[in-house]
Amino acid sequence: MKNVFVIKTSPRKSGNSDHLADEFIKGAIEAGNHVEEVSLTGKNIQFCRGCMTCQQTHRCVIKDDAEPIREKMLQADVIVWATPIYYYCVSGQMKTMIDRANPLYSMDYKFRDIYLLATAAEDEPSTVEGTVKATQGWVDCFGKATLKKVVFAGGVNSKGDIEGHSALKEAYELGKTIQ
Ligand SMILES: Cc1cc2nc3c(=O)[nH]c(=O)nc-3n(C[C@H](O)[C@H](O)[C@H](O)COP(=O)(O)O)c2cc1C
Repeated sequence: MKNVFVIKTSPRKSGNSDHLADEFIKGAIEAGNHVEEVSLTGKNIQFCRGCMTCQQTHRCVIKDDAEPIREKMLQADVIVWATPIYYYCVSGQMKTMIDRANPLYSMDYKFRDIYLLATAAEDEPSTVEGTVKATQGWVDCFGKATLKKVVFAGGVNSKGDIEGHSALKEAYELGKTIQ
């Protein structure tokens, strides 16, 4: 049984990437894992100030909603990012949370397996490339962690477009493989 932490980063509640995340969660719970989720919607998460204090203190000088999320990231075995693709990259919300998780860089983090769930209006293989690269760049900074798998749902723009998309089953089946 793994501690799985799912971070939904879309500002659009119950949108396409949230739905993809829900399927992954369903599978991971069925497989007997302990799953927690957070949505960044409505959270007060300021930009990283780049002061680097965290590398000495393991704490961030900014006290806001990033702190409990970072704590969950620290304790998780598996981290799942769900993001809409914004300008061929991760959403700004996801990137801001990644930056604010910088204290983890010098800490004894537990996570080993990272998963990326992404949605976009376009449906070309290249649509997701920048998003994977950005996520991989973060994972590469954590030597004990690996980007295990990416699920991409292309061709979904409006809320609800993802209904019936094959990526939903893919995410569910992927969730079931976690143990
Ligand atoms: C600011 C912004 C930028 C976007 N950039 C892209 C893009 O580069 N490529 C693309 O295919 N779709 C793009 N989209 C569309 C979203 O990725 C798409 O609607 C996605 O399914 C939204 O997921 P959500 O419902 O979880 O928010 C963009 C949407 C927004 C709001």
